[in-house]
Amino acid sequence: MYVLGIETSCDETGIAIYHKQRGLLSNQLYSQIEVHAPYGGVVPELASRDHVRKLGVLYRLALEEARIGASDLDVVAYTEGPGLVGPLLVGASFAKALAFALGRPALGIHHLEAHLLASFLEKGGPDFPFLALLVSGGHTLLAKVEQLGRYELLGQSLDDAAGEAFDKAAKLLGLSYPGGPALARLASSGRREAYAFARPLLHRKDYNFSFSGLKTQFLYAVEKLGGEAQLSFADKADLAASVEAAIVDVLCRKTQMAIQQTGLSTLVVAGGVAANERLRSALAFMSAGEGCRVVYPALQFCTDNAAMVAIAGALRFGVLKQHDTTWSIRPRPRWPLTQA
Ligand code: KG4
Ligand code: ZN
Repeated sequence: MYVLGIETSCDETGIAIYHKQRGLLSNQLYSQIEVHAPYGGVVPELASRDHVRKLGVLYRLALEEARIGASDLDVVAYTEGPGLVGPLLVGASFAKALAFALGRPALGIHHLEAHLLASFLEKGGPDFPFLALLVSGGHTLLAKVEQLGRYELLGQSLDDAAGEAFDKAAKLLGLSYPGGPALARLASSGRREAYAFARPLLHRKDYNFSFSGLKTQFLYAVEKLGGEAQLSFADKADLAASVEAAIVDVLCRKTQMAIQQTGLSTLVVAGGVAANERLRSALAFMSAGEGCRVVYPALQFCTDNAAMVAIAGALRFGVLKQHDTTWSIRPRPRWPLTQA
């Protein structure tokens, strides 16, 4: 069974081909970062236009790399939501038109479900049930994954996502968008205890997060030093290390609470921020103490990509026998994970 995966929920255009026995045969990815960098964030209209420009090209490259013809495809899986409505419309239109022309089913996939299932691209994959920590630029959540298609949301960010918190702090240090990875590099030369940034919502017994207050605290700390232009490398490194420590601490301790309360023995960490080294070592240390195994998708499948959409499609189509029941194109920019 050959599954085509299409990802266009934000600023990454992806086309992948996955085969149940042969594995991942192609994973084409085009990042629009350079298009949006001058604006300090994703410009939805520019993102949509770029997806239109790139999808057809990547589709042909994917077929070439997989050495198959279009008629070999069995199902076309695409990101139906959540995400930016324009980019989602482009992907859904491409997917449905292609599926219709090939006489194959289309299958809309929940972007966050795709992130949670990305670790099944690795040999074996995690066993159900597992606890999932999803930390990306758009989302931060803890979910109990009972089995394929059954997700219980334990908590989520009430405002900014963890990646957004990294990116906003990075912007205040003059780093270009998305600054999360650059901030993490700076942080490795700084002192984590230099600034006592708050650990929001840690006192609460629920699993919700809040990161928007950190940005304000960070801004005040920068201003107190005379503004970004006055900061030395050491100042920047200390600020970066301290804010990273606050974000990592909150993520790690809420995850620990969830492990203790659910009694789950596997933790799957996904999303762009899963690439963060400090988060990885904090989670490894904490999980070892809790007797919990931590599973990550390969780094290239942590950030947005189409391979995760293809594997989610393969599982939904192959195991749950699901596909779209209508040819109408209706992306779902807001779509709770629990309804996936
Ligand atoms: O999953 P992703 O590619 O996109 C969304 O679906 O949002 O995640 C991108 C986010 C960005 O905010 C980026 O700054 C952050 O992940 N990120 C990191 C690191 N690598 C990526 N944040 C902190 N440390 C990193 N090493
Ligand atoms: Zn994502």
